[in-house]
Amino acid sequence: MQPVLEFLKSNEQWFIQELCEYVRFPSVSAQPQHKDDLSAAANWICVHAQGIGLTAEVFETPGNPIVLAKTFAERQKDRPHFLVYGHYDVQPPEPLDLWISPPFEPRIEGRSLFARGASDNKGQHFAHLKAVEAYLKTGTDLPCDLTFLIEGEEEVGCTNLQPFLEQHREELLCDAVVISDTGMPSLKHPALTYALRGIAAIEIAVHGPSRDLHSGIYGGSIENPAMALSQMLASLRDKNGRITVPGFYKDVVPLSAYEKKQLARMPYTEADYKKLTGVPKLFGERGFTWNEQRSSRPTFEINGLTSGYQGEGSKTIIPAWARAKITMRLVPNQKPDMITALVEKHLRKICPPTVRLEISAGHGGEPYVVSPTSPLAKAAMRSLKAAFACEPILLREGGSIPIVNDFKRILGVDSILVGLALPDDNAHSPNEKFDLDAFSHGMAMAALLWPELTAASRGESASRPKPARKKQPKKKPRKKSKKR
Ligand code: BES
Ligand code: MN
Repeated sequence: MQPVLEFLKSNEQWFIQELCEYVRFPSVSAQPQHKDDLSAAANWICVHAQGIGLTAEVFETPGNPIVLAKTFAERQKDRPHFLVYGHYDVQPPEPLDLWISPPFEPRIEGRSLFARGASDNKGQHFAHLKAVEAYLKTGTDLPCDLTFLIEGEEEVGCTNLQPFLEQHREELLCDAVVISDTGMPSLKHPALTYALRGIAAIEIAVHGPSRDLHSGIYGGSIENPAMALSQMLASLRDKNGRITVPGFYKDVVPLSAYEKKQLARMPYTEADYKKLTGVPKLFGERGFTWNEQRSSRPTFEINGLTSGYQGEGSKTIIPAWARAKITMRLVPNQKPDMITALVEKHLRKICPPTVRLEISAGHGGEPYVVSPTSPLAKAAMRSLKAAFACEPILLREGGSIPIVNDFKRILGVDSILVGLALPDDNAHSPNEKFDLDAFSHGMAMAALLWPELTAASRGESASRPKPARKKQPKKKPRKKSKKR
């Protein structure tokens, strides 16, 4: 293992340069004008994987391409197989004027690499690729088979990956999926994430007059769609931060006393959280701590609100329409379809007859929870600890990775979430960055992971001495041979 870790250390500067090349692609999945940039990013990472010795291929889909890269030509039966998932698509960089340097021109300042996608998620899955490169280039035996699955639609709901998993199920069958696409509270607190929130997206449009009208001539006698929509949306949350849609909390599993205690151990204070987000005062559902609110309680969020004149100066109109882009974050056992139906029903009920309501459902993903004490989870914790030289913690995260439930449903396996993003990485915000120490420790973690996970999947432990293999008695083989 030492040569692998040394290889990673001595090539770090070079790897950072390579990552800079990768983040130059404006692979924004939400914006159709970037279709070719998405394909170019997929090709780049495919060719890159080939360059480090993997068998890699780009698969076209009705949406953005999916890249598969394998460490093997043919599966060997006695070796475990793990899938490493990542996404090369990124969130829109807007508003551009808030970026200190352009989002797709990487800039290094101290130990930060600034660029859209640097942290979410190019830098994180790149760390895993580099770890494998270190095995291959130092001639170190990789104890398991690996398939990298890097997609381009995570930020828009993984629409085409699900059918791809079904079509390629046989070759993707594995012992577990490893994902670095979540966070850790600090470099001193590497983390294993054992829960993600689900998501349900909808768009609402409220239509009023057949065109924008003079607000002086008509104002007062005609409904203002922006006002109607604002009133409807505002009524969906009460002063205690509870969502007022009937039935919204019906399936929510309350946090156990044990989990509440674990969540309270978050090494981040309320003051830190306030400073990080820049709010004058925190707000959330009454009766829950900020860490419970952001990870274990459902939400209804307006992501975008548009109506009327957006240009400079004033324009006196009653807008013809108003729109809102909404996502709800879900927790166990809420189901995206059911929540969408409840919200739609409620909106139709409260919509005034003075406007016409149009609702369209978007992508959805179920919440995810996995055991944080399984042998594989413990193995991942050991690699985190060794790479970061700090005791790792367990996290419930508020974000969503819709495909993890499909990995479970279609491939029957759990995902091990070992994220490398720091709270101040500005994911989805202007001036996104990736911490280069997180990259460096992350590459080491990714290298240490394979012996650990391989041993765990065989019922052993890589960092502890292996139990002596009992020789099978020749005469009378026992029916069940205990592994320990
Ligand atoms: N990496 C995030 C998800 C994440 C971030 C999980 C932080 C846990 C902690 C991912 O790229 C993401 O942003 N996902 C979207 C999914 C959505 C668009 C379907 C999200 O959570 O908004
Ligand atoms: Mn993201």
